[in-house]
Amino acid sequence: MAMGATDRGAWGSRMGFVLAAAGSAVGLGNIWGFPTQVGRGGGAAFVVLYLLCVGLICAPILIAEIAIGRRTQKDPVTAFEVLRPRTAWWLTGLLGVLAGVGILSFYSVIAGWTLAYVWYTATGAVTGSQDAIGAFFGDFVSNGPLSLGLTLVVLVTTAVIIIGGVRSGIERVTRVLMPLLLGLLVLLAARAVTLPGAEAGLAYYMRPDVSRLFDMSVLNAALGQAFFSLSLGMGAMITYGSYLTRRQGIGGAAVWVVLLDTSVALLAGFIIFPAGFSLPGFDPGSGGPGLIFTVLPRLFDTLPGGHLFGAAFFVLLSMAALTSTISLLEVPVSHLIDGHGWTRRNAVLAITTLTAALAIPSALSNGAVGFFSQLPGLGMSFLDFMAIVWNEFALPIGGLLVAIFVGHIWRVDEALAELRAEGAAFPLGGLWGALIRYVCPIAILLIIIFTTLRTLAS
Ligand code: PFF
Repeated sequence: MAMGATDRGAWGSRMGFVLAAAGSAVGLGNIWGFPTQVGRGGGAAFVVLYLLCVGLICAPILIAEIAIGRRTQKDPVTAFEVLRPRTAWWLTGLLGVLAGVGILSFYSVIAGWTLAYVWYTATGAVTGSQDAIGAFFGDFVSNGPLSLGLTLVVLVTTAVIIIGGVRSGIERVTRVLMPLLLGLLVLLAARAVTLPGAEAGLAYYMRPDVSRLFDMSVLNAALGQAFFSLSLGMGAMITYGSYLTRRQGIGGAAVWVVLLDTSVALLAGFIIFPAGFSLPGFDPGSGGPGLIFTVLPRLFDTLPGGHLFGAAFFVLLSMAALTSTISLLEVPVSHLIDGHGWTRRNAVLAITTLTAALAIPSALSNGAVGFFSQLPGLGMSFLDFMAIVWNEFALPIGGLLVAIFVGHIWRVDEALAELRAEGAAFPLGGLWGALIRYVCPIAILLIIIFTTLRTLAS
């Protein structure tokens, strides 16, 4: 289907959708975010809780979002309006549109760092002792103008690709990117686990501390991370699902997206922790946002031709980030097109400008400007604050609303009819219905309530 008069597009095939959705899911969240969260959340306990969240909560919601999108062929706000006109459900879509801008504003900052590290690793600028590499990263991110400039490069590149429409680009890039990225990650993991001292890292990553399994703050972080990693709770998958035609089945596509996304995250952990623990005095919890930028360069140093591996790694990571920023921008853009009749070009220009303005405090919050680096009263940087607000609150709330909507308002039998349209196979419909009706809403609600109470109490 060609781009129509309304500037809507469609995937060339179901494979095209799987690639684009996996491209959205696989990104900084997997390779930068997941290990960072594992480090903060105390290791293997986080991994266990994360996998539970993915299987029991996020996978069913992924299917629900794609079904809403394909059924309505609309942006998230309009989709809810179409399914339940004259109700307030469209606000769920609006929350997603806002989350798209909010997440993109800090995501593009980190994507800018990975871009710079292509250059730094290729030219051998980041080598030497762990302290030297750490100091290099600290100096680099505290350079405000540089961080801002890199953020702009990411945003403008994303905008230019999106102006071209959904199909051109994304499918093609991801088709090459995914196998290359997986191949390189496997290679790096194989190297990392054979380093001296790697066993301690493997134990940290794979042997859960049972007491932390019942820690609500770890569970909340795991849930937020799972939503973020699968691009859920903000309508990205509704939007991508809306470019599916009815002949393109949903169940199998969703399984592929979950498997790819989860394997990339798990692989990233198999690289970072063994490599990290092979270094003297490594503390996984203190790495913060710099974990991959400080541990990986040391790993590259241990490889013959390490600079090349390093540069290749950061090129692939930048491209993975780009296929995610594309989906983040596509949500608000599709809303202006479908909901307000804008042209694609104007929608992209407006949203990109807004996001760039909102990105300024995040780009300056890593040492460049004291106020943003250590927000008064919160004790964290503006970038960390944004990540927590959107990932741990907005996305789970968005997911909760999607689950309630599909399970109780639109209703499971209607959704199943969409999932099984044109004779598509969707086994275990009863199980999916039970998860979406009861398990997802109750679990998310409990986690959000506990987190709010804890935040208020502290
Ligand atoms: N899933 C992406 C990642 O893991 O890097 C981030 C993301 C993209 C979140 C798109 C949300 C979204 F809509």
